[in-house]
Amino acid sequence: MTFPNGFLWGASTAAHQVEGNNVSSDWWLREHGHAPSPSPIESPSGDAADSYHRYPEDMRMLADAGLTSYRFSIEWARIEPEKGCVSLAQLDHYRRMVDTARDLGLTPMVTLHHFTNPAWFAREVGWHSPRAVDLFGRFTETALPVLTDVELVCTINEPNMVAIMANSEERDAFLSGGLPSGHPVVTENLIGAHRVSSSILRSAGKQAGWSVATQAYQAEPGFEGAAAEHGRSREDVFLDAAAGDDWIGIQAYTRTKIGADGPVPIPAGAERTLTGWEYYPGALEFGIRRSWERNGVPVYVTENGIATADDARRIDYTAGALEGVERALADGIDVRGYLHWSALDNYEWGSFRPTFGLIGWDPETFERSPKPSLAWLGGVARRNALR
Ligand code: FCB
Repeated sequence: MTFPNGFLWGASTAAHQVEGNNVSSDWWLREHGHAPSPSPIESPSGDAADSYHRYPEDMRMLADAGLTSYRFSIEWARIEPEKGCVSLAQLDHYRRMVDTARDLGLTPMVTLHHFTNPAWFAREVGWHSPRAVDLFGRFTETALPVLTDVELVCTINEPNMVAIMANSEERDAFLSGGLPSGHPVVTENLIGAHRVSSSILRSAGKQAGWSVATQAYQAEPGFEGAAAEHGRSREDVFLDAAAGDDWIGIQAYTRTKIGADGPVPIPAGAERTLTGWEYYPGALEFGIRRSWERNGVPVYVTENGIATADDARRIDYTAGALEGVERALADGIDVRGYLHWSALDNYEWGSFRPTFGLIGWDPETFERSPKPSLAWLGGVARRNALR
């Protein structure tokens, strides 16, 4: 089968994970021991992939391969490094990124918030405070000049993971495998911020949505109720909040089976990726269907991929995930694009070891080397068909 006309084929990144030297953000403070961290930090982000300077080359590689879209985030901590102090030069920087994408024929999808916060925001406000809602609305307005002729804007990346991480009292549970539940106040503020931001974006003629991490919560026989309960604060609240949005971003990597004691450990023989997650390409179809059932909103796959040193497994995984997208489309689900995670190997929140990239790079020189999976996905894009 072919994919619908105009289906977007792309790759995603997040500013903090590829730019380097995002020194005014809360993550930078954590990486250097100046703030508590929800997960262990193996190495700081440092220069990351230096995509702050090398983005034209990165985007060109995607476009040359045949991709038609690039999702990236703009960094609030650069644009507003101190409260109320806006850097016009940084706005210009992101504006140039949008222009570069357009010049290369890549439809830009811009994320306003991808996990990192300005250090001042984390210190003085935080997502536990209802003041976060207005401040994020104000940041959305500040960012509008970057977004001229950008249609697709993602307000907040994985708000469910932000709410889960905020439940720091359950940090030990997180480290031992199962995800804590979403923090209720943080959840409410994130939904409020999404609403305020979306309405500003809509008034400016944009299509607004947010991207949700789906975990394919699958019930062991007899534990359907437990699985539903498990998914509620961790996922469903956020899928439900997307009802009425222009679109939703679905992000999927692996599954979680739920049994008598909650999440069931991954069986010893199962294939695991470099993040330790079970190799399970079916996660994407599961996430798309769950979202569609709950909110009926058009779907963009905003992240899907695999951390591996074996690029052939990346191709297999992605092909498997795309077969699921084909089945979803055949059933009438309105899926409008597939943006792979990730364009580049990157800083995976504490470590550079899990390599998700279609493009690798030399840690000394930053020289890029596209992997076979980039050419493969570009071929899919050019055919607008998996095979
Ligand atoms: C998602 C994040 C993204 C990346 C992938 C592997 O949770 O949105 O930044 O870390 O996982």
